[in-house]
Amino acid sequence: MEIVILPGRTEIGMMAADVIESLLDRKPDAVLGLATGSSPLPIYNELVRRYRSGVLSFAEAKAFTLDEYIGLPDQHPELYREVIRREFTRHVDFAEDKVHGPDGFGVDLSGACNSYEDQIRAAGGVDLQILGIGTDGHIGFNEPGSSLGSRTRIKTLTEQTRRDNARFFDSLDSVPKHVLTQGLGTIMDSRHILLTARGLNKAEAVRELAEGAVTALCPASVLQLHPHVTVFLDEAAASMLALADYYRHSFQHKPLWQGL
Ligand code: GLP
Repeated sequence: MEIVILPGRTEIGMMAADVIESLLDRKPDAVLGLATGSSPLPIYNELVRRYRSGVLSFAEAKAFTLDEYIGLPDQHPELYREVIRREFTRHVDFAEDKVHGPDGFGVDLSGACNSYEDQIRAAGGVDLQILGIGTDGHIGFNEPGSSLGSRTRIKTLTEQTRRDNARFFDSLDSVPKHVLTQGLGTIMDSRHILLTARGLNKAEAVRELAEGAVTALCPASVLQLHPHVTVFLDEAAASMLALADYYRHSFQHKPLWQGL
């Protein structure tokens, strides 16, 4: 796991967009894993900017989103498939039918989860997965207690996550209690994982993710077992890391040929 501590959202957006641009240069039909939430927004903004200036195209790319609420009416603005369209994909040349998400509308939800896994597999797996992290250490919607090998399935949100996400809804009562989410095992199958976090409210979760024990109590800690994880943090999110100086030192002295 490589921890990169950056001054703020602009630098995080630029550096993450560099990683995605270089992937698309090598592999224009790359499969991207897209996350919702506020953390990836600087990345999406920078990707949109680069698309508009003609340096980047998503015309051949595919995308899979991480998770989805169950129980919101069709076209509700907080459905993650709407959020990802609004925040990112409709501003670039992503084909609508190449952006996939778990389908929380059918009667057979567990069938929908299995078929989502099949779709990801059929696309050749995710080349680059973008992730945020919840204050309770969740990734996707894998709440504490999630099996470290879990696949796409139905989860019940913790009250902490519902409170955190209430800012996007009229009231806490309107936040769904259930979701579909890629499992931790699904996320771990991605070839490169790029997690980003900003702000003091993420500092504890980030410490547990990077320096705590690998435990279902902090689902993101499973990423310690992944061979290629890059974590972009601002100073506040990095403020509880015991080895912060070492991460700064190693990034400063990183040979250019090593890449991210
Ligand atoms: C949400 C999403 C996650 C996201 C997390 C943090 O519940 N399901 O994918 O990473 O919470 O959100 P934010 O980036 O807004 O802090």
